[in-house]
Formats: sequence, C-alpha cells, structure tokens
Amino acid sequence: MESYYVKPKIYMDREGLREILKGVSRAFIVTDRFMHESGKVSYLTDPMDQMGISYEIFSEIKPDPDIATVTKGIGRLTDFKAEALLALGGGSAIDAAKAMNYLAARQGILSRCTFVAVPTTSGTGSEVTSFAVISDPEKSAKYPLISDKMLPDAALLDAELTKTVPPAITADTGIDVLTHAIEAFVSVKANDFTDGAAEKAIKLVRSNLMRAYKNPDDMRARQKMHHASCLAGMAFNNAGLGINHSMAHTLGGHFHIPHGRANGILLPYVMSFNAGCRDKLTPTANRYARIARCCWLEGASMRQSAFNVIRTTKQLVHQLKIPTSIAEAGVSREDFMGVLDEMVEAALNDSCTPTNPRQPTPEQLRELFLEAYEGRRI
Ligand SMILES: NC(=O)c1ccc[n+]([C@@H]2O[C@H](COP(=O)([O-])OP(=O)(O)OC[C@H]3O[C@@H](n4cnc5c(N)ncnc54)[C@H](O)[C@@H]3O)[C@@H](O)[C@H]2O)c1
Ligand SMILES: [Zn+2]
Repeated sequence: MESYYVKPKIYMDREGLREILKGVSRAFIVTDRFMHESGKVSYLTDPMDQMGISYEIFSEIKPDPDIATVTKGIGRLTDFKAEALLALGGGSAIDAAKAMNYLAARQGILSRCTFVAVPTTSGTGSEVTSFAVISDPEKSAKYPLISDKMLPDAALLDAELTKTVPPAITADTGIDVLTHAIEAFVSVKANDFTDGAAEKAIKLVRSNLMRAYKNPDDMRARQKMHHASCLAGMAFNNAGLGINHSMAHTLGGHFHIPHGRANGILLPYVMSFNAGCRDKLTPTANRYARIARCCWLEGASMRQSAFNVIRTTKQLVHQLKIPTSIAEAGVSREDFMGVLDEMVEAALNDSCTPTNPRQPTPEQLRELFLEAYEGRRI
C-alpha cells in the first residue's frame, strides 16, 4: 500500500501556542534539565501564565531516554491529570513525551492529552514522526516504539530555541538530518511526496549546516536547518530509513555515541555500499546521481555524480569535526571486536533494515562495520 500520512499542524512561532492551548487548564511539560535550569522553559510557561493555565514541569529527561524515566513520567502525568502535554527539547525529550502519552492512554490510565512538540535541536524531526526511540541500558540496546497514535497534534518550529545549541551538537544533529533525508530518498518506499521533502531537506542542509555550525547566531541558517529537520522527518516517517540507522542504533547503544554522530561516522561507508562502489554499481547510484543534480555536484557520468555526492558527504563530516571512523570516535579494537557479531545481528533485525535499497548479508554488514571502524578509503 502506498500512502503519505500528514500530521501535525506546524506553527512557525510561539503565537501558535495560544491557538493550540485554548480551553486547556492543566498542562504537563516534558523537558531536560538544561532547558529547565537555563530558564528556556519560560518560552512555554510565560504564555501559559498569561492564559491562566496551571502546569507541572518534568525535567528529568536525559539523552537517549530509558523506560524507567518514561514510567516515572507517566506516573507524574497521570497524578497531575493533565489535559495537554508539551515536549520541549531535542529528540530525547520529544520521544520520551510521545512514549508517555501513548503508553498512558494504552494502559487506560489517562485519556490521550493534546500533544505539542517544540524541538530545540534541528535533528531528529521527531515532532512529525510516528517513532519514539527508547533505550534499554541493561541490554545496551535502543528500541523503537512505532504508532501513528504517537504523532503530536501540533509542532512549533522556532529556531530562536536552537540558538544556544553548541557547535558539536549542531554538527551531530545536522548530520542526522542529512542521513534521514538521504536514507528516505533511496528507500524502497520512496515516492514523489517523500522525494519532494527529502530533496528540499538535502538542499537546505547543504546550504545552511556549515553556516549554523560556524556562526551559531546566524538565525537564518538556524531556521532553515529547523525546516530541513522537519522536512526530513516527514520524508522518513513515510518512506522509512535504512541500514545507516540500523547500524547507528546498535553502535550508539553499545558505545554511547550520540545518535547523530553515529550516523555521521557511518554515512559515507553506507552510501558507498548502497551504490555498489566496490563491486557493481546498483540503481541506488542513480538516485545519488539525482541528488548530485539538485545540489550542483553533477559529474561527467552517473558514476562520477554518485561519487561526488559520497565524497562531499565525507568532506562535510570531516569539516564538522565528526570522527570519520569508529576508531577515531574512541572505541578500542578489542571492545569493538567483542560486540561485532552482536551488532551485526542487531542491525540485521532492526526495523530500519527492510527499507534499505540493498539488503546486506551478515558478512557484508560485518565488513561494512569493519570498514567504518578502520576508516578505509571509499
Ligand atoms: N523519534 C524519531 O523519529 C527519532 C529520529 C532520530 C533520532 N531519535 C532519537 O532522538 C534522540 C536524539 O535527539 P537529539 O539528537 O535531538 O539530542 P538530545 O535530545 O538527546 O539532546 C542532546 C543534547 O543537546 C542538549 N540541547 C538540546 N537543545 C538544546 C538547546 N537549544 N541549547 C543547548 N543545548 C541543547 C540537550 O540538553 C542534550 O544534552 C536519540 O534518543 C535518538 O535515538 C528519534
Ligand atoms: Zn536519526
């Protein structure tokens, strides 16, 4: 079945809050400690004070939220008898809030709240996706919850909130956007609708990520990256992702590498595998050549165009000071080899693998992990 699901309503500034929260008297805010202690949460509480809405702030979200935090949040959310739930933060806060809202309603302990996502990083696109990634620290694993019921009712995209994101996180989250867009563009489920969103996101990243990284006060670049993140989210929510994310989930789970950075390390190697650079070119090389065409990177042949996209992606990763190999990210060979077979199995079974354009064998995935570990020439 081919489809394109469109939700939520997207607002570009804080005025949207007044519309969404009309008639609400109790709101529960899910955020992280930085947002709370730095006072940034006033972005939501100031208008709520003016509207006479009472609220509670749950600011215990840490990167890669775990099920224990989600369970604690559900308890507080239900005790408070919230009518609206607002998530303020990066993918971690938004995913945790999604899981709380969804699981509380599924367990029948609270009817589903009006749900607003306010991203403060330009990365995951979680504000428009049906996924929430929850960690299991005991198993060093990350699991996706998947349901359209988790989609927020509204998303608020105001880049003003991203101004304080430090360059390293701008880099990690920005390369996550690019990975979402590229994986969606070459996915087996890509269609004209997802292509439109993915192509635009890729162009916006190419023109704005380095600018936002080098000059955090460049608000135009920040806003464009915020839009790119959301567009890439719409693309992959409908087209799915691929083995880049499958490998990043298990790599990040084992070695505590931030989600976007893990994707950035792997991206050039996975693109090279998908294009068949080492053996025989695949139809995916043609898709990369299409990206080359829309980014002014076209070469004399399809092979050259595809290669230009992979090469410039690797350059971008390097310029953003993201490690270009797993070894460079500080993972010892001994630790890596100790979990390699486990990671291969986890990546093969990850829910992102079926939409990858080239289905890898376990041996090919193992080789791909080793290439990325050693930073072999592409
Ligand atoms: N739901 C989805 O569709 C989806 C997609 C991709 C990734 N994810 C998940 O999202 C999580 C990663 O999210 P993320 O990359 O946005 O990072 P994050 O939410 O984990 O935040 C990373 C760090 O940035 C800080 N931060 C956030 N906003 C800031 C700001 N405005 N100023 C200063 N610091 C700020 C946070 O406090 C935190 O320390 C992972 O758990 C990943 O698995 C979800
Ligand atoms: Zn991602």
